[in-house]
Amino acid sequence: MKRYNINSFIDKESGKKITEFIVFEKDNKCLIFNKYSGHIILLDSNYLKTFENEKIPKELFRRLESRGFVENHNEHFCNNACDVLPEFFMVDLTNKCNMHCKYCLRNVGSSNKSISKSMIVDICKYISKYCEREHLLNVSIQPWGGEPLLELESILLMKKLIKPVGTKVHFSVETNGILLTQKTIDKLYDNQIAIGISIDGFSKVHDSQRVFDCGKATHNIVEKNLLLAKEKYKDKLGTITTVTKNNSKYIEEILEYFACELKLKNVKFNFVHKSMFSDCEELCLSNDEISDAELRMLNKIVELNEKGYHISEHNIKVKIKNLLFREYSDICHSKGCCGGKKMIVFDMMGNIYPCELTDTPTENIGNIYDKSSLISTVNKASRNRDYFIPKKANVCETCEWYVFCQGGCTVRAISCGKRPPEIDMVECAVNKALYPALVELILTKPRIINLLLGFEAL
Ligand SMILES: C[S@@+](CC[C@H](N)C(=O)[O-])C[C@H]1O[C@@H](n2cnc3c(N)ncnc32)[C@H](O)[C@@H]1O
Ligand code: SF4
Ligand code: SF4
Repeated sequence: MKRYNINSFIDKESGKKITEFIVFEKDNKCLIFNKYSGHIILLDSNYLKTFENEKIPKELFRRLESRGFVENHNEHFCNNACDVLPEFFMVDLTNKCNMHCKYCLRNVGSSNKSISKSMIVDICKYISKYCEREHLLNVSIQPWGGEPLLELESILLMKKLIKPVGTKVHFSVETNGILLTQKTIDKLYDNQIAIGISIDGFSKVHDSQRVFDCGKATHNIVEKNLLLAKEKYKDKLGTITTVTKNNSKYIEEILEYFACELKLKNVKFNFVHKSMFSDCEELCLSNDEISDAELRMLNKIVELNEKGYHISEHNIKVKIKNLLFREYSDICHSKGCCGGKKMIVFDMMGNIYPCELTDTPTENIGNIYDKSSLISTVNKASRNRDYFIPKKANVCETCEWYVFCQGGCTVRAISCGKRPPEIDMVECAVNKALYPALVELILTKPRIINLLLGFEAL
């Protein structure tokens, strides 16, 4: 695939200035990308001559104008931060866990605490009132842990209590799968609570990192329960795989196992990051290993789809949407980290955090019993907490993917001891490898892009 820049020029037809943009070209097709607005246009390569001659046909000019390629629609560097309007809420129900994963980011086991019923009632009231006051149409709630299914009754109570007038509420839990008996699956399903099961691959790799406290393997139980849950949830069942040094070399085999044996359609792969509470540095991958694993993952997913296994990976799907539609669709990956602004986490005392930081009390930005509204609390924190300082390194200045990435995940940067504004190197490595590969896929295999998205976009 060829990649080159076209400098800004004055269009001789309209007299307007067309901004600098990047051209990706392959097989007589090209994708032009405006790194300031994040918009793309797909064109036949013949159109490139019109750029050389600096004479843009009317119809193309209209497309360029509507996509922010005409200068007065642009700002010099992306000013694309998300607005403060939280819509995704996690509630920390417990720091207890029935497992002991080698990389766990939670402070599990240090104290065995679960949330009280009265605190659940108060947090649910707080969320409901906020939704009604802000007239939100959609919000997502995720009871969190530790292992959230240890507190099943609290989850069901939350489901019953959060019913704001005029707001559609989507509930989900991420679970290690150990407690997913038929009875529990039925309760969750009947209450319309979506589930994501953490599984790190087939037994050899899963059991090297996801184990019981005593060190005993968990894969047998997780796989059995996952298949049980799949009977009920069908293709709506999601999984989360944490990629480490142990399993990254088997990424193709893991995807094959997920697609062909477990018949999964919606998977998510997250790279492990350092934890403040487990000694897992040796499980973390180098930047080159991350780029390599990400590309191997994409290639395997394409291969499986070409063979008729319609498996899609969540983060890849979000990034295809970023490229094609330039819409905000993800708290972490569409407009950089939107922790606090779009996502809030409550701890067991009703304290408010901008993301999954409830084990780090210094990151607390407020409490549900404060007089100020949630939006004022976040606005105040965004003025005086370094969590909210925009992240940018010198490499970001010329990076075409800044509009989406904006320095990556703040929690991951913090967990690696890098106080913002330092960037998150995991997301950097993923984006630098993945976005160009996705552009090539858009140009060469539109059918696969449609399959990964689950609808006809191209
Ligand atoms: C903290 S757990 C809580 C829910 C549940 N106990 C579970 O394991 O699914 C949520 C997710 O975070 C992942 N996770 C834990 N520690 C991590 C780390 N250091 N880096 C990346 N992901 C991690 C887990 O594998 C799991 O998929
Ligand atoms: S099951 Fe979840 S909470 Fe428990 S140790 Fe593993 S990652 Fe941590
Ligand atoms: S991919 Fe890397 S260089 Fe580009 S914006 Fe993200 S962190 Fe900065």
